[in-house]
Amino acid sequence: MADDRVYIFDTTLRDGEQAPGYSMNLEEKIKMAKALESLGVDIIEAGFAISSPGDFESVRAIASAVTNVTVASLARALKKDIDAAWNAVKEAKKPRIHVFLATSDLHLEHKLRLTREEALERIRESVTYAHSLCDDIEFSLEDATRTDLDYMCQVVELAISCGASTINLPDTVGYATPGEIAKMIEYVKSHVSNIDKARISMHCHDDLGLAVANSAAGVAAGARQVECTLCGIGERAGNAALEEIVMLLKTRHDVYGVDTGINTKEITRTARLLSSITGVKIFPSKAIVGANAFAHESGIHQHGMMADSRTYEIMTPESVGVSQTNLVLGKHSGQHAFAKKLVELGYSVTKEEEDRLFAEFKKTCDRKKTISDRDIVALVESTSGADSQLWQLESFVVNSGNHMDSTACICLKKDGKVYKDVAIGTGPVYASLRAVEKIIKHPFSLDDYQLQAVTEHRDALGEVLVKVTDASGTYRGRGVSTDVIEASILSALAAVNKMLGNGSAISAGQSASMMSFENDMLIDHTDKAGAR
Ligand code: KIV
Ligand code: ZN
Repeated sequence: MADDRVYIFDTTLRDGEQAPGYSMNLEEKIKMAKALESLGVDIIEAGFAISSPGDFESVRAIASAVTNVTVASLARALKKDIDAAWNAVKEAKKPRIHVFLATSDLHLEHKLRLTREEALERIRESVTYAHSLCDDIEFSLEDATRTDLDYMCQVVELAISCGASTINLPDTVGYATPGEIAKMIEYVKSHVSNIDKARISMHCHDDLGLAVANSAAGVAAGARQVECTLCGIGERAGNAALEEIVMLLKTRHDVYGVDTGINTKEITRTARLLSSITGVKIFPSKAIVGANAFAHESGIHQHGMMADSRTYEIMTPESVGVSQTNLVLGKHSGQHAFAKKLVELGYSVTKEEEDRLFAEFKKTCDRKKTISDRDIVALVESTSGADSQLWQLESFVVNSGNHMDSTACICLKKDGKVYKDVAIGTGPVYASLRAVEKIIKHPFSLDDYQLQAVTEHRDALGEVLVKVTDASGTYRGRGVSTDVIEASILSALAAVNKMLGNGSAISAGQSASMMSFENDMLIDHTDKAGAR
């Protein structure tokens, strides 16, 4: 193994996805996995196969969908977990089983109720068994940073002798400091006789905001794998952010002297894809991928930038895939310029998609003078898959005001036929969604509704993200328009089209408890319109 190569182990789809608000359905996970492969990560942790049939299925599907990247599944140190992990990853070109057991006394006594000796036995059995199935085994000592160092060395030596070729030392609770991480790794390197047979990995959580600093300290001390997630999503305060650790190692090559296999120009696009899939916005001042990460507002800074961009820029926006061209599009822009912009923004679309998106763009130009990159990203993301939509919005009229109920008259189109209905509600969005529900004759509850402006000005596009639920599960939808009611209807239609078509849910339905939220359905079966 070259000593100057750091392997990037991406756990966005496992540690990241289990964080509240970030769940993804099967298609979304596959899309994300392919994007991570293009980004150049070395290992994708695709999920925790034993945790649910849905997780098993997505790990299995990802294992078959990617080729150039190792696919790992997490497993507790239990035979049934290891079997599930192996069955899920075995079709991958490069499969890995990632076995873990907590090793701190706190976890052993209070969580696992195991003695140190019993834990060693579990590790011996589980790693040996995993290695009998798969060549590539990673073993993680959960809560490593609060584990007694001599016991840690015993565990590491044993796991390597049983076949583990990667040893992960997680800072599970985000408690360690960079100095402590360095000492821990030095200790392991000098006290474990077979450590040269394994790659040391860092997996740091961000509870004290030190996940990236701790991962980097691990690399400086000799770790050659870093486990991270896009935008740092993950349990509690999250994990080390992939884009930060990668750009730190690249920008400060003078300090760390190591390389990753990441194609950094893909970073922004991949982070935006995650945001568009999950509907969670990237914080504007987020390092590397935030909208302001390369913006220079103050006069002094702008002056410096004009003289020499190195005065206030330690890396170029282009190096992370942020285009600096000033090609602003508007109603006079042709399809050629529009297509060029799509490519610059990292999209590769078919001719039919380009035609459809260009038509959407032209419609938007009638309502909005200039179209920014962010508008185009919002348009593309909100209309992707629109060709295959079951129900489409034909037209709507909404009447709304204070001291009155709102009325919505909606026309939807399905298979070339137009359907129309009217509903009343306490507000225009509510009335519109009730009318949709009446037309499609399929009750659903609205679990989440978020409205935000895509850009700053008065003519900004409004972007609506919804989550709707029926007995089969929860579905996400997105709609974009200069008219927020239209954006709301479009988002609901995007979600119900997934619900009624073949789209998979972001969380499974709970038919047993369906009765409990039936009362929450938007449709008014008793037709007492306006009761809410
Ligand atoms: O944080 C942690 O310790 C983990 C392990 C399961 C690797 O996520
Ligand atoms: Zn973790």
